[in-house]
Amino acid sequence: MELSPRLAAIVKLIPPGFPVADIGTDHAMLPLYLVKTGRSPRAIATDLNEKPYQTACRQVAAADAGGRVEVRRGDGLEAIRPGEVEVIVLAGMGGNTIVGILERSRGELAGVKRLVLQPMSDAAALRVWLVQNGWRLVDEELIKDEEKFYVIIAAEPGEDCYEDPFLLEVGPILVNKCSPVLAEYLEKIKGDYQRVLSGLARSRTEQSMEKAVEITSRLARIREVISRCRLKTG
Ligand SMILES: C[S@@+](CC[C@H](N)C(=O)[O-])C[C@H]1O[C@@H](n2cnc3c(N)ncnc32)[C@H](O)[C@@H]1O
Repeated sequence: MELSPRLAAIVKLIPPGFPVADIGTDHAMLPLYLVKTGRSPRAIATDLNEKPYQTACRQVAAADAGGRVEVRRGDGLEAIRPGEVEVIVLAGMGGNTIVGILERSRGELAGVKRLVLQPMSDAAALRVWLVQNGWRLVDEELIKDEEKFYVIIAAEPGEDCYEDPFLLEVGPILVNKCSPVLAEYLEKIKGDYQRVLSGLARSRTEQSMEKAVEITSRLARIREVISRCRLKTG
């Protein structure tokens, strides 16, 4: 069973030996891989919508994994009872959707040892929510697959304090370990900021000038991290 580079990177952050819930599973590829390879003893695959729920049911039946992967339909963690799993995966959804699900699920999160999150957008907002709500960032991965970048965040219960918002925007662990594609990822963000800056240069309001100052300082930080990573990785 071959996984896409994105799903394979998610698996790397799932500690072996624990029951896992994959929320928003769609095709159920991840839970099937986890139990088939023995990385997880059992898994719960959930989805909000009927079509992906049916797809997951079919895939699990076809793989003859019904005893080890249970498919359930429900919104976010409402399909999981507190204490049922120790690892929760939320992948392939927007960061704000993930925040909304976590926000509504404080009871179900009791006893969870690790969250493995792969936001398709708004990773910064997700990191901010985590550190403000009793989770600490323990690992991060950044991969590039078919010209798209994917960030994966692992968090565990605990305290984290980041005084520098730039780190939560880019990913403190990615910056610390100079992830192999980080410089390339930051070049893309740099380009986005430069376009915003050119737009702001045409406006002379106080608000746009303040924004331009903020972006200029972020661009300086981005350049600094890019050169540090290039020096480190050659
Ligand atoms: C793009 S798919 C991602 C599938 C898989 N997790 C992956 O990463 O390849 C997103 C899935 O999340 C499901 N979903 C969206 N909101 C959800 C929610 N609140 N609770 C459970 N599932 C949800 C959708 O129905 C869809 O199947």
